[in-house]
Amino acid sequence: MDSCEFWVPAICRTCKIIVLGDAGVGKTSLSHLYCTGRFPEKTDSTIGVDFREKLLQVAGEKIKVQLWDTAGQERFRRCMVQHYYRNVHAVVFVYDVTNTSSFRSLPLWMEECQQHLLGPDVPRVLVANKADLVTVSMNPTIEQGRHLAEVHSMPFYLFSAKGGSREQVDTIFGKLVQQISRQRGKKTEIVRSIKLRPKANAVEEKKEKWTCNC
Ligand code: GTP
Ligand code: MG
Repeated sequence: MDSCEFWVPAICRTCKIIVLGDAGVGKTSLSHLYCTGRFPEKTDSTIGVDFREKLLQVAGEKIKVQLWDTAGQERFRRCMVQHYYRNVHAVVFVYDVTNTSSFRSLPLWMEECQQHLLGPDVPRVLVANKADLVTVSMNPTIEQGRHLAEVHSMPFYLFSAKGGSREQVDTIFGKLVQQISRQRGKKTEIVRSIKLRPKANAVEEKKEKWTCNC
């Protein structure tokens, strides 16, 4: 029993996901909902970063999802930026559908990701939050968000951290984690084939030597 408890964390892989977007768009509310199943009644501006974790089982593999809920306010994030991006596996961009300036900031958030060398293969999603506060058909930033997501080949989710269900938020993060797992699977395949080749060559070399000696 004890050894099993020690053994489980050893095979548990970690997915680091950062949540980015302007101040007040609902990053803390969204990540809180995902990790605890509840919309927080009260949130304070995030200073630096808040960490939350959730354990998932994906295709028979245990995965620890580590959410980095980042600060939207420049003065609270300045000294942390390098840490945000280290070993990131996926990114969640969030904007507030009642706040057009949070939508206009999205290209800057994407640019920051690029500056920190996150390649296009790092999975990303775009969340248009606070859908409970608008009439969808009368809100231009929703269509614009959908378009932006399409241009950048990201899934788009119109969501409300306040009114959305646990299942909906699980879908957003769950799909992201599945994508990370698939990529890891491919990378493992590549590493395996690279490792195999030198071994095969070594066998060839031995064979040649043996032939020469004869
Ligand atoms: P920073 O930490 O300053 O970057 O802000 P944040 O992006 O973490 O925003 P936070 O989650 O703290 O939410 C800001 C305010 O928006 C809070 O008052 C939340 O209750 C509210 N809020 C968040 N999501 C929703 C939502 O979906 N609907 C509504 N109506 N309010 C929301
Ligand atoms: Mg916050």
